[in-house]
Formats: sequence, structure tokens, C-alpha cells
Amino acid sequence: MPLFYQHNINRDTKLGIWRIDEPESFFLEKVPLKQDVSHPFKRRQHLAGRYLLSYLFPDFPVEEIRIADTRQPFLAGHPYHFSISHCGSFAAAVVSASNRVGVDIELITPRINRVAEKFLNEGEMHFFNEDYVLFLEQWGMKGRMQQEFLTLIWSAKEALFKWYGLGELDFKRHMQLTGNIRVEGDWIKLPFVFEKEDIILLDLDARIFDDQALALAWVLT
Ligand SMILES: CC(C)(COP(=O)(O)OP(=O)(O)OC[C@H]1O[C@@H](n2cnc3c(N)ncnc32)[C@H](O)[C@@H]1OP(=O)(O)O)[C@@H](O)C(=O)NCCC(=O)NCCS
Repeated sequence: MPLFYQHNINRDTKLGIWRIDEPESFFLEKVPLKQDVSHPFKRRQHLAGRYLLSYLFPDFPVEEIRIADTRQPFLAGHPYHFSISHCGSFAAAVVSASNRVGVDIELITPRINRVAEKFLNEGEMHFFNEDYVLFLEQWGMKGRMQQEFLTLIWSAKEALFKWYGLGELDFKRHMQLTGNIRVEGDWIKLPFVFEKEDIILLDLDARIFDDQALALAWVLT
């Protein structure tokens, strides 16, 4: 049973990462396929994400998941909030009985350097151009590559997009990494200002799984 990672965030909230080694039939025993996902690999990712929801909370009513017009999956009239992400052979999910959540998992690849200017605003660009090396020295993380951190920021913004759920977000304007980034054990705390209808200050938790070249970020409010 390849649960790759589990973190119980609080009494009501769990995060999990599943390594997808099983055939589709394994997931279908537990989870109904209610969406038309034609590519077999994407279908397995999709099923694994839903399987993970029920793995984290066995009473999670997977069969009742509906899809909003914004494409956000949700449960109507049920206390569970949840968020799903997949990349390569991994699916990640956060489920909470009390908090709104968002999660994203990404493979770390050099491609992020080419797309960075699409999602980094001026302040974030400044951090990577001017303050990044200082930050690494301060935290004794000199060996880290810029692409790992860029991927974390991208992942954090994707997690915020899912947490918000209503779409129509400008990744540069509505989500801004500001303030002091902190390192707490394996986790990096990324302070964001989220500004759409209201201004909301949020700390995202992010971490890198070096062995698998994975970046993960989650948010909860
Ligand atoms: C929706 C989106 C966040 C999905 O991210 P992704 O990296 O492509 O895929 P992930 O595997 O991480 O996430 C997919 C899951 O997100 C969830 N999801 C999809 N749309 C969602 C939405 N609007 N809100 C919340 N969650 C959503 C679903 O659970 C989906 O998995 P499922 O279909 O198997 O249930 C992404 O496609 C997107 O639209 N991002 C915004 C794009 C953008 O504005 N970019 C501009 C900045 S450069």
C-alpha cells in the first residue's frame, strides 16, 4: 500500500501523498469513475486522488463529489472540505472537516525557469534576483537550487487557486509572496497576501521531497 507520506495537520485535517503503483482496477474497487477521463494514465491519477480522500477519512463520501461550474470539486451539504493534486506517479490530497483547504504537488524540472516570468510579480522577481542567495545563507540551505524554490512558489499559487475555488485569478496580481519566509523543520512557511474581493494574509506550508524531486504546498483557513 504505497502511502508515500501522511501529515495530520490538525485534529480535523489530514494531508496525504500516494505513490500510484497500482492498476486502475485497484482504485475502482473503492472509488467510482464519474468523469470521462480518456487518457489511461490521467484516469489512474484521477482515481488515485479520490482513493486518497477515502484513505485519509474512511467515511469520506467519494461518490457524492460534484463539480462546480468553476471546475472545483465539492461535496454539497457535507462538512468535508478537500483539495486534490497529481503529478507523475503521485497524487496528493488534503481533507478537512473544519477548514477550507488547497493543495498542489509538482515535479521539479528545469521548465519552471522558462515560465517563471508568467507567475512571478515584481516583488517576487526581486527576491529571486537579489535576496535569494542571502535567504539560503541565512537558513544554511546553500545547496538548494533556484528551480526548487521557483517550483514551490508556483505550487503555492496553484494551491491558493484551488483554495479560492472561484477561478479568475491573476497569479501575479492577486497572490503576492511578501514578508519573511521562514523555515520550520522540513517545512517552509511562505507568507502570502491574497487580494481579490478582500485582502487576506495567509501562510502557506511548502516542502521539497528531494528523493522524488517533488514540491508540495498546502493552505488552510
Ligand atoms: C485547475 C488547476 C489549478 C489544476 O492544476 P494542475 O496542476 O493542472 O493539476 P493538479 O493535478 O494539480 O490538480 C487537478 C485537480 O485540481 C482540482 N481542481 C480542478 N479545478 C479546480 C478549481 N477550479 N478549483 C479547485 N480545484 C480544482 C481537481 O480536483 C483536479 O483533479 P481531478 O480532476 O482529478 O479531481 C490548473 O489547471 C489551473 O487552471 N490553474 C490556473 C491557471 C492560471 O490561471 N494560470 C495563470 C498563471 S501563469
